[in-house]
Amino acid sequence: MTAIPTHPRGRGVFAALTTLVLTAIVLTMAGVIAGVITAPASHAASTLGAAASEKGRTFGAAVANNHLGEAPYASTLNTEFSGVTPENEMKWDTIEPAQGQFNFGPADAIVNHAQSRNMKIRGHTLVWHSQLAGWVSGISTGTALTTAMRNHINGVMAHYAGDIVYWDVVNEAFNEDGTRRQSVFQQRIGNGYIEDAFRTARAADPSAKLCYNDFNIDGQNAKSNAVFQLVSDFKARGVPIDCVGLQGHFIVGQIPGDIQANIQRFANLGVDVNITELDIRMPTPASAANLQTQANNYATVVNACLAVARCTSITVWGIPDKYSWVPSTFPGQGAPLLFDDNYNKKPAYNSTLTALGGTSSSPPTTPPTTSPPTTPPPGACRVTYAMSTWNTGFTTNITIANTGSTAINGWSLVFTLPSGQAITSGWNATYSPASGQVTARNVSYNGTIAAGQSTGIGFQATHTGNTGRPASFTLNGAACTVA
Ligand code: XIL
Repeated sequence: MTAIPTHPRGRGVFAALTTLVLTAIVLTMAGVIAGVITAPASHAASTLGAAASEKGRTFGAAVANNHLGEAPYASTLNTEFSGVTPENEMKWDTIEPAQGQFNFGPADAIVNHAQSRNMKIRGHTLVWHSQLAGWVSGISTGTALTTAMRNHINGVMAHYAGDIVYWDVVNEAFNEDGTRRQSVFQQRIGNGYIEDAFRTARAADPSAKLCYNDFNIDGQNAKSNAVFQLVSDFKARGVPIDCVGLQGHFIVGQIPGDIQANIQRFANLGVDVNITELDIRMPTPASAANLQTQANNYATVVNACLAVARCTSITVWGIPDKYSWVPSTFPGQGAPLLFDDNYNKKPAYNSTLTALGGTSSSPPTTPPTTSPPTTPPPGACRVTYAMSTWNTGFTTNITIANTGSTAINGWSLVFTLPSGQAITSGWNATYSPASGQVTARNVSYNGTIAAGQSTGIGFQATHTGNTGRPASFTLNGAACTVA
């Protein structure tokens, strides 16, 4: 009799199947009972993970094992995210610190945490020049390094076989000019090491999707062109590759304008695209204006991903700002994430949730409608309406400036969209209705515009050929000048 194969991390396949069947029965029964008692409620999702999943996407965070014991860290992770990437625990120096000796404990803790909460796991990363165990760099021949690399991939992937949705097989193999980085793998093995790693990985865990991951390949440039060539070549020759990871380490205000086009061109090659390490840094201490721009930038990235069906997963590189890698790597920069040092939701959180189609579950304690808006005198507002169009759609970033001398508390901006235009999603405001005369109302965190200050909102829309702009704007009933 054949023994039931046992999962390397201890779960029997039979036990897992039994659990699945029982869960299915219980869920079906629950569905029947719920169907009798109540009709399913229709409401917008109120967490990043739930909103993303309604769009068929995963919204994950990089997680550090040493923070998992901190209550607000774990509860924010558990509440908001549907995916995890171990931030350092699967890197070579941690997981195979001495040749053939694997240290799976730290990564196992994250994997167990994720699995018990049904989160999807990205494996990061198998072959990378950085955070590499010292013994690997000491290997002097290509043959010996190929053997060590294959053993590493086999050892790590076998341990997590069936657990990982996407594996970053090779990380950061290119220079900015598109040439190969002169890592120890490149130097000892040569150009073929990437292909060897992917072939080894496919055999080690055929259920995992295999990714090439890099930074500064978010827009179209020499480096992303080189990755594009690599993926095209792999696809043409049947070398296994399933995904490209765009790390998405951005500077506030500097999201490449062609990010969606870049995601699309990779998707067109027949691979998934993941945004794998999203963060948007700024000089610290953070200014209110930069936090607002950051919110707009997060929405831009999310919208670019949502616009491409094969962009399946977005991962932010950390949970609260205080644990981000940015301040120690880029001195003077920080505040790049969605939660501040005290786990408060930042404007970027709200814009991200809105872009994902969700709405905040904690409305402002004083909703904007309950405080009578202060009507600015005529001409006390100025609107900038910046459009970025493509054949069937466009995005618009609107800046509303208070040019008067008193603060605006609670606002609604009214404008009329040209015919054929319809809003599909927006950020930093609620938009109603989607076409015709639209009213954009402030959300909880941007109702006040101090004298001389401005706030940014925006939306994505479809059009049927007419890419004209609204002729006029009124803020709380008063006409605005248009910049
Ligand atoms: C970073 C981690 O966030 C830090 O904790 C660590 O000290 C250095 O590495 N590109 C990658 C990630 O692929 O693995 C890096 O993570 C950030 C840049």
